[in-house]
Amino acid sequence: MLFEPIPYDFYKYGTTYFWVHFGLVIVGFVLAIITFLSQRLHPAPYGKHDSPDAKWGPLVPQRLAHVMSDAVPGVLWFVLIFFLYSKEHSDKEVINYIFFGLFLVHTVHRGIIHPLLMRYKSSKVAIGICLGALIPNFLYHFLNANHISVARYHDNYYYDPRFILGVLLYVIGFVINRWADWKLRSLRNTKGETSCVGYYIPYGGLYELVSCPNYFGETIQWIGWTLATWSLSGLVWTCFSAATFFARAYHNHMWYKENFENYPPNRRAIVPFIY
Ligand SMILES: NC(=O)c1ccc[n+]([C@@H]2O[C@H](COP(=O)([O-])OP(=O)(O)OC[C@H]3O[C@@H](n4cnc5c(N)ncnc54)[C@H](OP(=O)(O)O)[C@@H]3O)[C@@H](O)[C@H]2O)c1
Repeated sequence: MLFEPIPYDFYKYGTTYFWVHFGLVIVGFVLAIITFLSQRLHPAPYGKHDSPDAKWGPLVPQRLAHVMSDAVPGVLWFVLIFFLYSKEHSDKEVINYIFFGLFLVHTVHRGIIHPLLMRYKSSKVAIGICLGALIPNFLYHFLNANHISVARYHDNYYYDPRFILGVLLYVIGFVINRWADWKLRSLRNTKGETSCVGYYIPYGGLYELVSCPNYFGETIQWIGWTLATWSLSGLVWTCFSAATFFARAYHNHMWYKENFENYPPNRRAIVPFIY
C-alpha cells in the first residue's frame, strides 16, 4: 500500500495496556485545553510575569526547580518507561531507538543543560511553577515513551514522507529553539536600551518577526515529532506545548509592548506574519 493510515502495530484493542494508553491520551487533551484557557487568562508567575501577589507556594531555587520539573520526568522517567513498562513488548528495533535518542537530546538539554546555563533574573521560583510543569510532564512523557517503545513500525517506514519530513522539522525546530534561547541568554551579557530592569529588546533573525521564536521553534519541533511518530501521544504533547506557548507568547508580546515604547510594531507574538 502506498500510504498506510497507521504505519505500525501497537496494543491490541481492548487490552488493559490499550485502555491505559488511550485513556491517558484523552486526559492529556483535556489538560491541554484547560492549560490554554487558564494561562491565556493569567500567565504563570515566573520570569517577566512574576508577581509578589501570586500565591503559588513557597519559593525554591529556580535552577533546581527546572531540573526537577523537566529532567526527572523527561530523562529519568522517560528512560524507565521506555525500557521497563510493558516488558512483553521488549523486542525493540532501530527506529524505536532513533525516536528514543531524538526525544532525549531535547529533554537532556531542556532539563539539565538549559537550567544550568540560563541567566535568570530571580534565583527563586514558586514551587507551584515547578509542580505545574512536573505533573503534566509525567503524563505526556509516559505516553511518548510508551508509544515509541511499543510501536512496531513497518519495514519501509524509513522512506515514508511522514518520517523524513517529521525528523527534518524536529531538527529545524530544535535549532531555532536553541538559537532563540541562546540569544536571550546573550542579552544579559550586553547592556542595551531598557525601561524594565534586566530585560532588553532582542533583535536579529527570527526576533525581527516574532517576540518568542524559542516557543515557535519548539512548536515546530513537536509538530515534527508528531508527524514522524504518527502518534496520538505526540499529538497530545504538541497540543499541550502549543497551549502553553501560544498563551504565554501572547502575554510576553503584550509585556514587551507595554514596557518598551520603541518596541518594533510589526513583530507578531509567535507565528511570523500571522499571530
Ligand atoms: N514544552 C513545554 O511545555 C515548555 C513549557 C515552557 C517552556 N519550554 C521551553 O523552555 C525554554 C524556556 O522557556 P521560558 O518560558 O522560561 O522562556 P522565556 O520566558 O523566553 O525566558 C528564557 C530565558 O531568557 C531570559 N529572558 C527572556 N526574555 C528576556 C529579555 N527580553 N531580556 C533578557 N533576558 C530575557 C529569561 O530570564 P527570566 O527568567 O529572568 O525572565 C530566561 O532566563 C524555552 O526553550 C521553551 O520553549 C517548554
